[in-house]
This record gives sequence, structure tokens and C-alpha cells, in this order.
Amino acid sequence: MTSTHSRIAPPEFGALMSPAHPSEEARRLLALRRSTSADLLTGPGPDDQTIDAIVEMAARVPDHRKIFPFRFIVLQGSARARMGEVLAERFAATSMDAPPERVETERRRFLRAPVVIVVVARIDPAHKTPEWEQALTNGAVCQTVLLAASAYGFAANWLTEWYGYDDGVMKALGLKAGERISGFVYVGTAKEAPRERQRPIMREIVTRM
Ligand SMILES: Cc1cc2nc3c(=O)[nH]c(=O)nc-3n(C[C@H](O)[C@H](O)[C@H](O)COP(=O)(O)O)c2cc1C
Repeated sequence: MTSTHSRIAPPEFGALMSPAHPSEEARRLLALRRSTSADLLTGPGPDDQTIDAIVEMAARVPDHRKIFPFRFIVLQGSARARMGEVLAERFAATSMDAPPERVETERRRFLRAPVVIVVVARIDPAHKTPEWEQALTNGAVCQTVLLAASAYGFAANWLTEWYGYDDGVMKALGLKAGERISGFVYVGTAKEAPRERQRPIMREIVTRM
């Protein structure tokens, strides 16, 4: 775990806020952000203070009616191996003739990065804010974790994989009825630099009226 930069304290409720933050560095991050596959991550990862800063930044997402339809679970240290045991058990139990090497891969899954930030959606379908909008807020949370991790100098990867949808895994993580996984965001250091991937052709997806 590395100590990086100090946390930028959140403003007091009602404080005057800057409406924009012009920054060449921020533009560079947004223009060039790239995920690093979890398989290509290693240590060091963020220390506890930096993890706190990352999730605090991620919790500042747009959120219709301020209902905070998300929460975080930080997996680090031995908890990654403990949860890996659950993954191995669940995989073996739910896949017919699971080959032992694949079960072993599941056991080691969370060990791919020093820190895994689990974003949990706690969407209230009965709330006046539509479920769709609560889900959009969750997506923004995960993306902000990626951006904040990068701003602190860490590589990251937002995944759901099979275990993001497995009831047994969700139970072991302590999810309550109705909660879902928005993402497992693996955070660490890149063993090798990622390459640019295909991107949309902007003129095909942008219309001006
Ligand atoms: C909700 C969500 C779930 C994802 N789950 C997976 C996954 O399980 N496996 C995977 O290989 N990529 C997954 N991805 C894609 C990667 O996070 C990543 O976006 C992709 O590899 C493209 O790289 P980029 O972020 O640099 O554009 C997921 C993305 C989203 C938004």
C-alpha cells in the first residue's frame, strides 16, 4: 500500500462552490483514461487514507433527490482470500464438472489487485426517483472510482463477472435483500501498460440540432 496525496476536505454544507475547475491535467485524464485488465494489476495499491478519499470523491456523483442509492465495500488484505474461498465454493457448486484449475482461478480472483472497491446498488423501486435514474447514479459512482484512482496514480478495472450476479457471493458480501452489485473496481498498479482499444466514431453517435 502506498501513501499518496492528502485528502481534499469536502466543503461544509451550503459553502460557496467553484462552478468549474479548468485544468489541463483533468482534461488529460478524461481524454486518455484507460482501464487496465485486473489480470495485469499488482501492488502497490492505495493506502486506507487514499481509499477513503477515492470513495468520498465517488460519492459526490449526481443523484436525483439526493437518495444515495449506493454504498461501498472495500476488500483488501486477507478479506480478498476469504472471499476467494466463497467464489471457489460457489463456482464448484454451480458449474457442472468445474475443472480444478478453474476453481483455483476463482479462489485467487480477488488477489489480482491489492484493493477491490465493491460498489453496491441499493435501489428503491418504490421511490419517486425512477429505478433507471438510481442505476445511472451507480454507473457514475463506478466511473468516478476509476477516475479518482487514476488521479491518485493507480490503475483500475471495473468488472462484474459471474460473481457479481451470484446470490451466494452477494450474501457472503453482506448484501441485503434488493441490493445488487454495480461493480467490483479492482485498484492497483499496472504490470504493463494497456493499449488503446476501439472507440466509437464520434460523427456516428453525435447529432447536432
Ligand atoms: C457495468 C460494467 C461491467 C463490466 N464488466 C466487465 C467484466 O465482467 N469483464 C470485462 O472484461 N469487462 C467488463 N467491463 C468493461 C471494462 O470495465 C472496461 O470498460 C473495458 O475493458 C474497456 O476499457 P476502457 O474502460 O479503457 O474503455 C465492464 C464494464 C461495465 C461498465
